[in-house]
Amino acid sequence: MKADLLIKNATQLITVKSDKPKIRRKMRELGIINNGSVAVRNNRIFRVDKKINIDAKKSIDASNKIVMPGFVDCHTHLVFSGSRENELKMKLEGKTYLEILESGGGIYSTVNRTREADVKELVALGLSRLDGMLLNGTTTVEAKSGYGLNTKDEIKCLKVINELDKKHVIDVVPTFLGAHAIPSEFKSNPDKYVNLIISDMLPRIGSLAEFCDVFCEKNVFTIEQAKKILNEGKKFGLIPKMHADELYCTGGAELASETGCISADHLLRASDKGIKKMAKKGVIGVLLPGTSFTTMEKYADARKYINYGLAVALASDFNPNCWVNNMGFIIALACYNMKMTPAEAISASTINAAFAINREKEIGSLEVGKKADIIILNVPNYESIPYKLGMGIVDTVIKNGRVVVENGKIV
Ligand code: NIG
Ligand code: FE
Repeated sequence: MKADLLIKNATQLITVKSDKPKIRRKMRELGIINNGSVAVRNNRIFRVDKKINIDAKKSIDASNKIVMPGFVDCHTHLVFSGSRENELKMKLEGKTYLEILESGGGIYSTVNRTREADVKELVALGLSRLDGMLLNGTTTVEAKSGYGLNTKDEIKCLKVINELDKKHVIDVVPTFLGAHAIPSEFKSNPDKYVNLIISDMLPRIGSLAEFCDVFCEKNVFTIEQAKKILNEGKKFGLIPKMHADELYCTGGAELASETGCISADHLLRASDKGIKKMAKKGVIGVLLPGTSFTTMEKYADARKYINYGLAVALASDFNPNCWVNNMGFIIALACYNMKMTPAEAISASTINAAFAINREKEIGSLEVGKKADIIILNVPNYESIPYKLGMGIVDTVIKNGRVVVENGKIV
């Protein structure tokens, strides 16, 4: 039997093997095979071992390099038009994220630009952003709507996300986030907007999204509103997710556990009780250190959460407030600012992130039968990922068994 592709002599072959979300000590176990090999056949991983004696149509020598699963970026706001570099000055003058939002900036300014943009423009922007992510080793991206905030433009953004999935080699996983902000036209009656989401948007989503997310936050969506939207979303087959306890502790972590969320994300100010409840229910805690960095906020206490048994995942939160496409840099932020070890941060960016978007059977680790989403990095050990800060260490990306990045360039 012949393999389609054989990668051999990897200084470290990092499998991140696990059939459960990694918690506590398991997050530090990366299933490393020194001088390891991986064989690919029919777009899937066919064998993983030290030495594999097999003929292959193509073979790659990975000496002095590490080989690992492609990064799974499980929380992004990929689809929007415009940019917000003007907000840095406001932040430096002491304006908070919510103050910028309340004065009509932030999400609102992006909504205005995104409503004006047509599908063609948004697809073009998305494709070039995905190219940037691919070059940094990301092979699956979750993408949220949320800059339309009316039925027409939310559906438009979901269609763009689905189009991006078809057009780009990266797998793009769609999430409906109609509850991203109360649109200015509904400011005087937020419940009316909640009803619009429930009665007009959710019934039209069909297969355009897999998850339903809510930005549950002080002065944005309340716990009661979030609960209502997530429970209604379930009736349409949408798996619940939340932006929870980011800027204020509102009981988001508790609600995530009670509504059966697959993940709760941000969690900077989650209560101990809430985190313990999430751990017990197996809700993944998606931490987003890039957002703390650009919002100039505190960081989530990953050390404490891991000690509580929470399965921690990491993501970029790519959005106009946090324009980062490099999971290596996110891993660095997680290590230096959230005190995660490099191994924990790698588990969090691969297998645990796959669990956060219901893709654990397909991606997130190098295991026989999984999709051959593999990256080869130009470093001799995994500790170098956070060490070589944003340095472009990605040499090769294999997506679905096909080499799509070679020598750091898209082929
Ligand atoms: O996850 N917090 C809410 N949503 C995004 C930011 C969106 C924006 O500022 O445009 C987040 O950080
Ligand atoms: Fe977000």
